[in-house]
Amino acid sequence: MKSQFDKKLRVLLVENSAVDCKVIDKMLQSSPYGRFESQFAGSLEQAFILLAKQNFDVVLLDLNVDDCTGLETLKRFHRKFPHMPVVVNTGSYQDDLGLKAITKGAQDYLIKGMYKSYVLVKSLYYAVERKKAEEELKGAYNKLQQTQTQLIQAEKMNVIGGLASGVAHEVKNPLATILYGVEYLNTALKSTDEKVVLTLESIKEAAKSANGIIKGLLDFASLTNLKKEPENINILIDQAVNLIRPQCERINVELKKDLQSDLPLIKIDCNRIKQVVVDLIVNALYAMSDGGCLVIRTYAKKFAEQDIGWVDKRSKSLIKGEDVVIVDFDDTGPGIKAEYLIKIFDPFFTTRRASGGIGLGLSIARTIMNSHGGVISLQNKQEGGAIARLIFKANKKGSL
Ligand SMILES: Nc1ncnc2c1ncn2[C@@H]1O[C@H](COP(=O)(O)OP(=O)(O)OP(=O)(O)O)[C@@H](O)[C@H]1O
Ligand SMILES: [Mg+2]
Repeated sequence: MKSQFDKKLRVLLVENSAVDCKVIDKMLQSSPYGRFESQFAGSLEQAFILLAKQNFDVVLLDLNVDDCTGLETLKRFHRKFPHMPVVVNTGSYQDDLGLKAITKGAQDYLIKGMYKSYVLVKSLYYAVERKKAEEELKGAYNKLQQTQTQLIQAEKMNVIGGLASGVAHEVKNPLATILYGVEYLNTALKSTDEKVVLTLESIKEAAKSANGIIKGLLDFASLTNLKKEPENINILIDQAVNLIRPQCERINVELKKDLQSDLPLIKIDCNRIKQVVVDLIVNALYAMSDGGCLVIRTYAKKFAEQDIGWVDKRSKSLIKGEDVVIVDFDDTGPGIKAEYLIKIFDPFFTTRRASGGIGLGLSIARTIMNSHGGVISLQNKQEGGAIARLIFKANKKGSL
């Protein structure tokens, strides 16, 4: 039968008394239980050097070493190696020190001279298992917290989306009245008074801009009647790029296409996806207002979890291994600030409000992609810049 002490443990003894080191090592090597390979460090500094170079399973830590004393030794150790199981082994007997050590992250607390070899062996083996369980629990807790945040976020989006499209419907008609009214006054008054002309012009501009916002909001609501046809995304990208190229030249952005020639077709509503493509190109151009390079890349592959950047891990629509078509918008801008990453898909989140940003581009793009069973995600590149990525299910042959 397999014993709980079968596995060989690599133990680091952090201990500045040569005598104690010998005693402990003898206990470990002569024990009929367990197998050990031990090394020694007289100070925390030495321990850190050894731990950086080699793998250990557990650390037996004296609280009073060459370069540190008391609980501070444990705290410093834990700060540097929070995932390493630690058994405190100390000569100082104080009532509450043991408990304090446990609350500061130690797996067990032993007092020198008050234990025999079996207790030491058991403590070391159990510390390894306890730490493993603790780490698993922490992992599960973090995952739970992440899921909770995502659920709250999803609910928030639903509420905002519903509210926004409701308000948009209500505001649409009064706005149309204002716009028609301005047109009418313009022709009826035929005023030469500069103030009147300017006032009418600014009412018209303000109403038009509000109309733009409303149109965006209504896009949320009108995504049910999509006209999906099997399309080659490259053709659509060519059209979007032709539309936008003059703007790129003006702001000194080089626009490159790297499109796979034999791409599978994807089933999409062409106008909606073109809207997404244009939005992503425009976002990249705004990010590179001092010039740069935008590469639009298309390719087919088998889907893998890591294809989705961490900004949008919510999609459950794609299955590992299925055929997908990916479009990357790879820019050389400044990337997205870490604190904004979680917000960029929120309706009305924008970092360029002053220059006319509404903050609806990405949230509408996400709604459109979701309604195609696809995914949109953004991620920063290590070398700087961002990649916006669209992932579509490839159309199955025969289902054309
Ligand atoms: N390629 C990118 N590089 C850096 N930041 C980006 C990029 N794409 C989007 N962002 C950030 O995400 C924010 C939200 O983008 P989104 O498209 O939703 O709104 P917007 O572009 O600000 O306004 P609009 O409604 O006109 O599209 C942007 O304000 C910007 O801060
Ligand atoms: Mg945008």
